[in-house]
Amino acid sequence: VKGGTEETTTGVVRLRAMEKTGSLKYAIIAVNDAYTKYLFDNRYGTGQSTIDGIVRATNTLLAGRTFVVCGYGWCSRGIAMRAQGLGANVIVTEVQPLRGLEAVMNGLRVMPMSEAAAIGDIFVTATGDINVVRKEHMQKMKDGAIIANSGHFNVEISLKDLEELSKSKRALRPNLEEFTLRDGRRLYLLAEGRLVNLAAAEGHPSEVMDMSFANQALCAEHITKTEKMAPKVYSVPCGIDESVADLKLKAMGIKIDKLTPEQEKYLSTWEMGTT
Ligand SMILES: NC(=O)c1ccc[n+]([C@@H]2O[C@H](COP(=O)([O-])OP(=O)(O)OC[C@H]3O[C@@H](n4cnc5c(N)ncnc54)[C@H](O)[C@@H]3O)[C@@H](O)[C@H]2O)c1
Repeated sequence: VKGGTEETTTGVVRLRAMEKTGSLKYAIIAVNDAYTKYLFDNRYGTGQSTIDGIVRATNTLLAGRTFVVCGYGWCSRGIAMRAQGLGANVIVTEVQPLRGLEAVMNGLRVMPMSEAAAIGDIFVTATGDINVVRKEHMQKMKDGAIIANSGHFNVEISLKDLEELSKSKRALRPNLEEFTLRDGRRLYLLAEGRLVNLAAAEGHPSEVMDMSFANQALCAEHITKTEKMAPKVYSVPCGIDESVADLKLKAMGIKIDKLTPEQEKYLSTWEMGTT
């Protein structure tokens, strides 16, 4: 094996951890971290398809509902943006101050999950983390609350805690399970806590995956054409990232401006524009 390319956020996190401990045996290009991947696939792809999955599984109305998004990363901000656009009152939970601040300045309410749990109608996790929704939160949730995950595997919602709190469960329709808790409240779990956009909808549309896969293909070509790459996690070469953006605009029939020679000169010097 000469090298590999990694598509997902969580995959890149794990491969960087392998690099740190010396367990990585060949070069990896972190396709997820290309601008033409996470700014579009994670944000607009996950944003749209997650809402699609929730609506297909429940046929619930989002307008006027309190919609809690756990995380304000690239996927979760896409989900928050789309939920807001459909008229939901969006609350964000975060652990990073910068991301929390961005959510606040984007006009969203930010609070700890312990507070959001009591007021949310619909909860979606997209953090890549474990047990983001767990017993202490489920104990506070309203009767009828809907819980879904669009982040990593089926680990973001504690299924163990949900089972332990429940006296019975039944499937209501595909990808929608009703859990009746010992105190009589009912919580609705979507797609067994797995990625709701893949299980209950169709994943991202091809119009956004094309950029991710173009990065994959061009990075694979880059690996085959590069003499030797050490077993490290590499960024996508910026020429590839730029060329994917350029190709995508061309495919969409959109033209943009070019710098004039005068502007190029102005932007590359320190002598002009400083007095
Ligand atoms: N459903 C899909 O199709 C799809 C697509 C792309 C990525 N993913 C997955 O979604 C997950 C998120 O990806 P991303 O690109 O948005 O990552 P990201 O790193 O940009 O964002 C994750 C955010 O979650 C926050 N977070 C972590 N633990 C938290 C907690 N306990 N409570 C609240 N916030 C917490 C982090 O601070 C971060 O801001 C990853 O597991 C990724 O692999 C899913």
